[in-house]
Amino acid sequence: MNPLKRLGCRRASVLGLLAATVLATPGTATGASDAPETVRASTLGAQAAQSGRYFGTAVAAGRLGDGTYTGILDREFNSVTPENEMKWDTIEPSRGSFNFGPGDQIVNRATSHGQRMRGHTLVWHSQLPGWVSSIRDAGTLRGVMNNHITTVMNHHKGRIHSWDVVNEAFADGSSGQLRSSVFRDVLGDGFLEQAFRTARTADPAAKLCYNDYNIEDWNAAKTQGDYRMVRDFKARGVPIDCVGLQAHFGAGGPPGSFQTTLSSFAALGVDVQITELDIAQASPTAYANTVRACMNVARCTGITVWGIRDSDSWRSSENPLLFDRNGNKKSAYNSVLTTLGGTPATTRSTPAARALPGSYSWSSSGQLIAPKSDPTHNIAGIKDPTVVYYNGKYHVFASTASSSGYNLVYLNFGDWSQAGSATHHYLDRTAIGTGYRAAPQVFYNAPQRLWYLVYQTGNASYSTNPDISNPNGWSAPRNFYSSMPEIIRQNIGNGYWVDMWVICDSANCYLFSSDDNGHLYRSQTTVGQFPNGFTNTVIALQDSKNALFEASNVYKVQGSNQYLLLVEAIGSDGRRYFRSWTAAGLAGSWTQLAASESNPFARANNVSFPAGAWTRDISHGEMIRAGYDQTLTIPACRLQYLYQGLNPGAGGDYNLLPWRLGLLTQTNSTC
Ligand code: XIL
Repeated sequence: MNPLKRLGCRRASVLGLLAATVLATPGTATGASDAPETVRASTLGAQAAQSGRYFGTAVAAGRLGDGTYTGILDREFNSVTPENEMKWDTIEPSRGSFNFGPGDQIVNRATSHGQRMRGHTLVWHSQLPGWVSSIRDAGTLRGVMNNHITTVMNHHKGRIHSWDVVNEAFADGSSGQLRSSVFRDVLGDGFLEQAFRTARTADPAAKLCYNDYNIEDWNAAKTQGDYRMVRDFKARGVPIDCVGLQAHFGAGGPPGSFQTTLSSFAALGVDVQITELDIAQASPTAYANTVRACMNVARCTGITVWGIRDSDSWRSSENPLLFDRNGNKKSAYNSVLTTLGGTPATTRSTPAARALPGSYSWSSSGQLIAPKSDPTHNIAGIKDPTVVYYNGKYHVFASTASSSGYNLVYLNFGDWSQAGSATHHYLDRTAIGTGYRAAPQVFYNAPQRLWYLVYQTGNASYSTNPDISNPNGWSAPRNFYSSMPEIIRQNIGNGYWVDMWVICDSANCYLFSSDDNGHLYRSQTTVGQFPNGFTNTVIALQDSKNALFEASNVYKVQGSNQYLLLVEAIGSDGRRYFRSWTAAGLAGSWTQLAASESNPFARANNVSFPAGAWTRDISHGEMIRAGYDQTLTIPACRLQYLYQGLNPGAGGDYNLLPWRLGLLTQTNSTC
C-alpha cells in the first residue's frame, strides 16, 4: 500500500459505472439437438450432487491444520461429520459444563466452505463420561439426557441439517433387543422415544436420525430389531426422519441384501444414509457395490466415508479409505466416482495435478468490514487486509488510515456474517506501538511455533506472537533489513518501498516487496535462519509503473507444483485491479496467467455484485488460504479473496478515502 498522502485522482465518476461491462448471460441451449449431455463431475461431492445426494467425510478438528487433508476435504466433500468432537465426553465432560470449541471449529469451517453438517451424536453408550454412566436414578438421568440434547442442539441450531440422536442402541447377536447401557438399564426401552421427542422440540428443523452398525444385512436379527423400532415410531408418530447405516465393512464389502435393507427402511417413510463407510483393504468392487446400492434407492440421500486418508482412519492398519497416506486417490476412489456417475480425472486428458485456470470470474459480497472509530481513533479507511482461518475463526489484520497516518487493527470472527460486528483491537495500543505501521501479512511459522505479523514501517518490519488471538501478545517491531537494499535504492525512483510479503518453501523463505515504480523485489534466507539473514535481493518481475504497482501476494497452490503471484495494477480507467502469474518455484521466473485488463485476475469487469456494485476498485487484499503456516498454501478450487474496495464517488485526500473490505468468491471453478 502506498502510504503517503496524495490527492485522490478519482473524483466522483459516473463514467466508471456507466462503462461497466454488462455481460449477457450465455444463452441456454434451446433445441433438443442442443440438449447438454449429462455433466460428469470429477469430484465425489460434485458428482453426488448431480443426483441430489451428498458425499461426506468424518473430520477431525486436530487435522484441520494439515493442508493436504483440508485440500482433499474441500475438493471432494460437501458434507462433514465431526469424528469425535460432538460426542458426550468432549461436549459435556462434567455435568452442565459444555465445551463446544472443537465442534464449533468444524462447524464454522464447514459452513464457510459450503459443506453441510451432520451432528454426531447426542445419546450413545460409548465415549460417555463416567459421571453419566454412574447415574442410577431415573429422574436424574432423564433430566441429564434431555438437558444434553437440548443444549447441544440449541447451540448448533440452523447449522446442522441432521443429527444422530441415538447411536448404536441395539445389541449385536441374535436377540434383536436393545443393548445394555446406562440409558436402557436405568430408563428402560423408552429412552429412545424420549430422546427423539426432546430432539424434535429442541430443533424442529433438524432431521432426526437413528444410527447403527451391523444393520446392513437384511437377515440379521439386529437389523430386524432396528426396523421394528422405526416402524413402531412411524406408526405412533414418534419423530424420526432418517436411519444411518454405518457400513464399517470387512474386505468383502456389503452383504448381498444391502440394497434390500436400504429400500426396506426407506419404505417406512424415512430417508436412509450411509454414515461411516470404510472397507478393509478398500476393494474397488466392494466400494462400488456399496455406492450402487445407495444410488438405486431414491431415499438414500447421502454417503459419508469415515475419514479421508488411510492414515486418518480409526481402522488405519486395514487401509480402508479412498485416499492413501500421501493423499493420493486409490483405485477405490475411481470406482466410487464412476459408480456415482462421474468421470475419474485419470481417464481424461487433464493432468492429475490440479492447475489454476487461465481466466477468472468472481462474485463479490457487499461491504463486510468498515472502520470502527473510538474516542482516540478516528478512522477513515480500513485497508490492506491479511487473513488466516485458525482454530475456528477468521483472524483479520488490516491497516487503518486516518488523518494522523497509518497503523494496524485486528479482529476475529467465526464466519463472514459476523465480520461486521467483530470487535476492532487497535494495535497501536500494544508493543507494536504508534507511528507508521501498515500493510500487514500474518502467518504461523510452524518450525518456530510462532505467529508472525509482517508490515511496512519505512523498513520491512515484523512482530511475533505465540497466540494469534491475543492482540496484546505482539512483540515490538523489528526490521528484516538494516537499511533499504541497494538494488531497491537504485530502482525506486519517486516510488515508495511497500507491501512486504514472506513465503517459505521447505528450504528457504523469501521476502517480496514493491516500489510503486514497476518493480517486484525478492530477497531470501533459509528457513532455519528466518527471520534473519535476508540477502541476495533481486528484481523478481518488472513492468511499467501502473502495470506492476504494489500489494503483491505469493502463494503455493495446493496439490500442484505451482506458485501463484498476484500484483495490484492501476487500470486505464484509474481503478485498481489484480494481475496474476505462476511459477514452478519461488525463485523461478513468472509466467503470465490472467494478467490483462480484458482477462484480469480480479477487476470490476470479471466481478459480479449481487448485493450492489459498491466499488469499482478491487484493491490490496489476501486470498483465503487452505492452511495458515509459512507455506501460504491456497486451495486450487473455489478461490476466495478478501479485498479493499471504495465507493466509486469518493475522492479527496488519499489518506481519508473510505476504504472498506469485501470478499470475492470464484464462480468459474471447475473443481
Ligand atoms: C470412532 C472414531 O473414529 C475414533 O476416533 C474414536 O476413537 C472412536 O470412535 N461408530 C461410531 C463412530 O458411531 O462415532 C465411531 O468413531 C466408530 C464407530
